[in-house]
Amino acid sequence: MKSFLQEVSLGLSKKNKKLSSKWFYDFHGSKLFEQITKLEEYYPTRTERKILKDNKIEIANKIGKSAVLIEPGAGDIKKIAIFLSSLDKPKKYIPLDISEDYITKISQGFKKKFPKVAIIPKGYDFSGNNKLPFKINSSENIIIFFPGSTIGNFERKDAVKFLKMLKSKFKAKKIIIGADLVKDIPTLITAYDDKKGITAKFNKNILRRINTELGGDINLNSYKHLAIYNKSKKRIEMRLKSKKNNNIKINGSKYLIKKNEEIHTENSHKYTIKSFKNIANEAGWKIKKTWVDDKKLFSVHCLHLDKLG
Ligand code: AVI
Repeated sequence: MKSFLQEVSLGLSKKNKKLSSKWFYDFHGSKLFEQITKLEEYYPTRTERKILKDNKIEIANKIGKSAVLIEPGAGDIKKIAIFLSSLDKPKKYIPLDISEDYITKISQGFKKKFPKVAIIPKGYDFSGNNKLPFKINSSENIIIFFPGSTIGNFERKDAVKFLKMLKSKFKAKKIIIGADLVKDIPTLITAYDDKKGITAKFNKNILRRINTELGGDINLNSYKHLAIYNKSKKRIEMRLKSKKNNNIKINGSKYLIKKNEEIHTENSHKYTIKSFKNIANEAGWKIKKTWVDDKKLFSVHCLHLDKLG
């Protein structure tokens, strides 16, 4: 597993500069993401919440009895609360997040709200091949909750790998997963380039972290936030475009980011019901049920194991 410094020095030395979006999420970045989810332009969160709310009884039926719910990349853990009380005697809820501080703090209020469910927050980076910070009992009703279209932040092949890993490592029986849908381009672009500039701040948080954690000397004002829709790959790409030649220093090493050069920071893939079914099937899962909103902006799927796969 590469460290932040190793990934940054590798990513900024490439011809096509690239940093992983996972580095957005320190405490500050997670707070910014929470603000994004409340923006008028950012439709995914409120749409997915409505889908979960409108269908909570059916979702609870699909999940079944005595569930052990695991949520990788749980963030603000608000969505599980929508259907947690509708479940039949859930056993445990294990929210996992890359920011241990954040998830521990946010889980405190949650424990008071759901005193009957064991809430076990853990710091965990699911993007690597890290050992799980808790024991898995494969005979339990293990359900993965993966909302928010975080699956969209993976490249297609990595999305398949991740879905396979939920089976092999987490021993999941079912997955409740959100996937953002392909739609008109202006709706997509404004969702990632809001008027208040919160998404721009979120994008630049990666540079802020390089400064505070790796002793970088990057001037954040020298970069412009970009959100572009890549039609052929059906994804929003976030980038940071250098406004001038920027000579920067990070941990004693020098890098030149030329004028107009872009650092690619995030992909957010958009799916159709069919293209999502394809990746699920490729990973050995079957779609048991799909829920969408009236405007077909967002989808939530229940996946179950393909007995043949
Ligand atoms: C976490 N993830 C699903 C968000 C998305 O929409 O891809 C991250 C995000 N990036 C910019 N705005 C939100």
